[in-house]
Amino acid sequence: MTDAPLAQDAVVRGSVYRDPGLFQRELERIWYRVWVYVGHESEVPKPGDFVRRQIGLQPVIMVRGNDDKVRVFYNRCRHRANLVCFAERGVAKSIVCPYHGWTYANTGELVAPTFDDGYDYDLEKERFGLTPLPRQDSYRGLVFASVAAEGQSLAEHLGGVTEFLDLFMDLSPEGEIAVDAGEQKVVYRGNWKYMPENSMEGDYHGPFIHGVAFDLYAKRTGFDVTALATDEVPDVIRSLPGGHMVEDYRGAPMDPPKRQPSAARLEYIAKLKARHGEAKAAAMLSTMAPLLYVFPNLMYVITHLRVVQPVSVDRTHSYYFPVMLKGAPAEINEARLSDHEFMFGSAGFVSPDDVEIMERNQVGMQARGDDRLYIGRGMHRERSMPDGGRSGMTRDETHLRGFWRHYVSLMEDGE
Ligand code: FES
Ligand SMILES: [Fe+2]
Repeated sequence: MTDAPLAQDAVVRGSVYRDPGLFQRELERIWYRVWVYVGHESEVPKPGDFVRRQIGLQPVIMVRGNDDKVRVFYNRCRHRANLVCFAERGVAKSIVCPYHGWTYANTGELVAPTFDDGYDYDLEKERFGLTPLPRQDSYRGLVFASVAAEGQSLAEHLGGVTEFLDLFMDLSPEGEIAVDAGEQKVVYRGNWKYMPENSMEGDYHGPFIHGVAFDLYAKRTGFDVTALATDEVPDVIRSLPGGHMVEDYRGAPMDPPKRQPSAARLEYIAKLKARHGEAKAAAMLSTMAPLLYVFPNLMYVITHLRVVQPVSVDRTHSYYFPVMLKGAPAEINEARLSDHEFMFGSAGFVSPDDVEIMERNQVGMQARGDDRLYIGRGMHRERSMPDGGRSGMTRDETHLRGFWRHYVSLMEDGE
């Protein structure tokens, strides 16, 4: 560490993407301290369903027990610490460690060590159940956990970002999403922080790296998405206290092509109006739900939840989970999936370009000289908002500066 701050105002030091020592510090100061998104309850709908996840580098599983409760456990056998669960997802009445066969109930209790006649008769099985995460909580089905026993409540951590989480979940006529349409895994040779930064500033980089995709989308749908960013609309870009970032298009209604809506679309509109009332439904339908980033690892991007998972300072996994709207006609969800494939699928026209550009960014970051990066767009005109955040115009970097302020506050407090 040098004395220069890692980030200040519009300047970020390149070493934050490159220095293995800082990566270790991030694990301790960020990933093992704050609330981290684990998964959505709808991913484990039935007793025994489980998914394998990570918090920083620590493996965990989220499992629905026979008592219907969703729990997050460390994915670590209490015998000699093998992964009790290797599959990425599945269903299990009991969880059997593949190494020496210790067996746990899907509610976590140790059912039996193996060859148990060799164990002291007073081995206290209740002391050797799977270890739950010290803290677990949820918001509208989004399950978060923390490996730190103490700290802010989840409600404090999320703060004002719940308003934006609500907006995409409210697209469901039942107010519930279903994360059950599969997942994509994206691997890139670059730092984890590129993913939230890149995902939330598409209006800036879009014209440069997504031109082909935008043209194709306009041809396919008759809808020119670049029109969204033509004007510098105030308050689209938002930073929220806690490092969260938002692209909020509510002030920038889209003007989709006037076509006769399908019967399914009319049914969907009617259901939304019934749930939310005429005015709110009309506002929701006139634009897309905000893109958002919940610090440190969850994003909502147009069609899907996106999770970022650090592997090392220059390697990252990311998972895309298309979001289905419960209660919406099948055709509406199919259209969401089709849009998802077009933009974000592994052979899609948007996301592969982002992944390529993030890998190049990591290579560029190896060049030294002056190691400062500049994220000053819109700094002179950003506004303080009542929620304690700041807002900027469509292509401003206001939210990135908010992310870095929070990052620095975690990385540099109480040395
Ligand atoms: S490490 Fe799991 S049974 Fe031995
Ligand atoms: Fe992009």
